[in-house]
Amino acid sequence: MRKIQIANAKLMVVVVGAAFILGLALLAAPSNAQSLTGRWAATGPALHNGELHKSILEVTQTGSDLKGKLIALGYSVDLKGHITGSHFELFGWDSKTPLIVGDVANGELHWTQWGGEYAAKPVTPATEFPKLPYIDPPALHNVPYNGLAKTPPMGWNSWNLFAEKIDDKTVRTMADAMVSSGMRDAGYVYVNIDDTWEGVRDAQGNLQSNPKFPDMKALADYVHSKGLKIGIYSSPGPRTCGEYPASYGHEQQDARTFAAWGFDYLKYDWCSAGNIYKNEDLQAIYQRMGAALAASGRPIVFSLCEYGMGGVEKWAPAVSGNLWRTTGDISDSWQSMIGNIEQQVPTAPYAGPGHWNDPDMLEIGNGHMSADEYRTHMSLWALVAAPLLAGNDIRTMSDTTRSILLNKEVIAIDQDPLGKQASPVKNGNLETWVKPLADGGAAVGVVNLGSEAAVATVNAADLHLVGKVKTARDLWAHQDVKFTAGVYSATVPSHGVLLLRVSAK
Ligand code: GAL
Repeated sequence: MRKIQIANAKLMVVVVGAAFILGLALLAAPSNAQSLTGRWAATGPALHNGELHKSILEVTQTGSDLKGKLIALGYSVDLKGHITGSHFELFGWDSKTPLIVGDVANGELHWTQWGGEYAAKPVTPATEFPKLPYIDPPALHNVPYNGLAKTPPMGWNSWNLFAEKIDDKTVRTMADAMVSSGMRDAGYVYVNIDDTWEGVRDAQGNLQSNPKFPDMKALADYVHSKGLKIGIYSSPGPRTCGEYPASYGHEQQDARTFAAWGFDYLKYDWCSAGNIYKNEDLQAIYQRMGAALAASGRPIVFSLCEYGMGGVEKWAPAVSGNLWRTTGDISDSWQSMIGNIEQQVPTAPYAGPGHWNDPDMLEIGNGHMSADEYRTHMSLWALVAAPLLAGNDIRTMSDTTRSILLNKEVIAIDQDPLGKQASPVKNGNLETWVKPLADGGAAVGVVNLGSEAAVATVNAADLHLVGKVKTARDLWAHQDVKFTAGVYSATVPSHGVLLLRVSAK
């Protein structure tokens, strides 16, 4: 009996041992057995117009390293990553947070991207993206200035906070709040719908809105009835960055549609145009829409969004551009905000009435920066004469957010009719930005980039106002201050700002 038990125990050890070794072998197997190398056609969740997200993932696997590209309908992005067993992670724009996290099994990939589930199989002729023709860009000519945006456009945009969650009701209630909060009367007049409003084209090729926006004309009428203006979004590519149908091949038709609906502002985002056109074509492609807007019969502010490529600041006014992005997308962080503003420094000479450099929309009130940092954000945007497009929820904003967005003395710096863009001078952690004003005075902002409070000193000489300082006012403390012997000093908290308006004798 005992012998039998021992024999059974030995057998168990052998069986368990074998199972353990087999398990180890199975765990190790997928990395060798299943390579990710290849082209994979993926489908993801449904868009708001009923179509599906689609992309092609091109990957090369070397050992556990992955390299490749994700080509979606609306954008493409280079990827780098790794695979462990069957599990892989791929990083795109952000090297810290993976864009794609998934597994390979049975010849299929399953991954998560931006919270959506994707499934992919090797590309077949049926799942290959159709090759769309290169439409010859028009010859360059000057599209006359549309007479708009004499000062930087001010308003609100849906993208930063709502992204694809924006709909008709939210836009209407936001328009109500623009009025009740005092934003409209402070100058914020454009209520701009960003990406994800698009439906599909009808039989005549007219672009319709999707079910989130049942009646664009009625919505525009509502926003106008509040004494506000309304903006819309498209791309010169076949698809927007959110993968919705865009204006490629339909530029004149879409400009007429936007005008007929009553839109006053168009943000035109490069996105998938990069899959068809070359960077040398940028000016001509933007000119095509600039000319289409001019022919639409409605004054429409033209906002170029191509992230600063191709020296846009030099040619955007020639395509009747009123503002143009100088950077990639802002996010609600100190690094992103400061990064964007510093990136637009070289463009300073190109800002002026009717045409503005755009370091992207405001994040003030979205919750991930301190009040000091948001005051710095607002001050810097005003100093560089940037468009002021709030990106928060105006309906529920806190008193602090309100006090920042509605600081009328700071808004006046942004809206100064001279339209000069300040440039910075750095001294250790302190950065001083000086903006000459139409009345002969100047605005000066000293930003503390350091992690400790620091004493900022403003010299009349920095403002070209030696012996000429008449009055000076601290625009965040809301009080007059005095220059003594041509100097004013104050303590600035970490990531905070001293913002003065100085008038000249
Ligand atoms: C980006 C653009 C953002 C937003 C987004 C919508 O390319 O920079 O501001 O418009 O597309 O998909």
